[in-house]
Amino acid sequence: VAGGAAISALLLTGCGSGGQLIFIGDQASAYNQEILRMSLWAIALSIVIFIGVSGGLFYTVHKFREENNSAEPQQFHGNNRLEVVLVLVPVLIVIFLAVLAVRSMAHLNPIGEKTLGVEALAKQFWWNFSYPASKVTGGVVANGNEMIVPTKQNVAVTTTSADVVHGFWAPNLGGQRAALPSSHKTWNIDTNREGVYQGNCSQLCGGSHANMRFKVIALPQERFDTFIKAATEYAAPAPAAGSAEERGMNLFMQGKGSTGAIACASCHRVQGTPANGVTGPDLSYFGTRRTLGAGMWEAMTAEQWQDPKAAAELHAWIKHSPVVKPGSLMPTYDGSEYRANGKMVKGGVLTDQEIDDIAAYLRSLKLPDEADYWKGTP
Ligand code: CUA
Repeated sequence: VAGGAAISALLLTGCGSGGQLIFIGDQASAYNQEILRMSLWAIALSIVIFIGVSGGLFYTVHKFREENNSAEPQQFHGNNRLEVVLVLVPVLIVIFLAVLAVRSMAHLNPIGEKTLGVEALAKQFWWNFSYPASKVTGGVVANGNEMIVPTKQNVAVTTTSADVVHGFWAPNLGGQRAALPSSHKTWNIDTNREGVYQGNCSQLCGGSHANMRFKVIALPQERFDTFIKAATEYAAPAPAAGSAEERGMNLFMQGKGSTGAIACASCHRVQGTPANGVTGPDLSYFGTRRTLGAGMWEAMTAEQWQDPKAAAELHAWIKHSPVVKPGSLMPTYDGSEYRANGKMVKGGVLTDQEIDDIAAYLRSLKLPDEADYWKGTP
């Protein structure tokens, strides 16, 4: 345990939001426990070999130093027994480590029938986490870049990519997993500790690779079940007549033809409304999220939304996302040019008031309070 703690401390790589440490070797996951177990064997063997070799060296240097033996020592040519030992010992060590590695590989992916399945779809430059088991309902989507999982359960994460090579990596929960186009690979993820874990894309994938982050939020089974149920049954609340949210909803659904502003709904989905786009992230319960732009902004609690800075970030995001995040495929709404299907085209125009109305609509899209997966997290 002390060794594990020491190695974990050595591999400390950073500090996430809310004080959650990001470190390789976090013992909260069975994956990392297995890796540590295997590493300790390799380290222990290395120590034994180091002590044996350097001990032998020091012994020889001391015993045969010149002042005691001025005469030439006895010379010999070949020693069958010594040669067999020198070959056999390393071979046995390598076989032993190979057996350990193969055994660990089997332990690292114990995906069974009853495992919860999550699909992690990578796109330039965001993640879409969905629960294929709920496909009957059109797929429950855990808000793009926020992946909700239960603790103390094997979660089978199937990674894939819609464009280039990406990497799914939440260091606390194990190694990097490739997300490749036209490949569906399933990996085991587990944790026995509730919390929010930082994830990043781990393959250089373009201009906003560094802005392709995600969160894994591990909840106790009961809270996870509440979330899944609420998310499955979710239908976006209808805004009050004449409210900013209602004006925002109309712009979201229809855009503004007179200025060429494309409807948000043509790319985004909001469950329980006609908005059914799949090009962009699912915005069904945007108001429950605390991250924006695949983790470019974090910790957006209800209180922080009152902060003009958070409001300004969302405003800027809607107004001209490709300016804020290089490589974002969103259109602009300030009339500036943006890239669409490889060509530069002129964006539509929305007034600041209209953008704020859309922001108000988005923030009103919330899961019921008891299903708020962020509740209680630091
Ligand atoms: Cu996706 Cu780097």
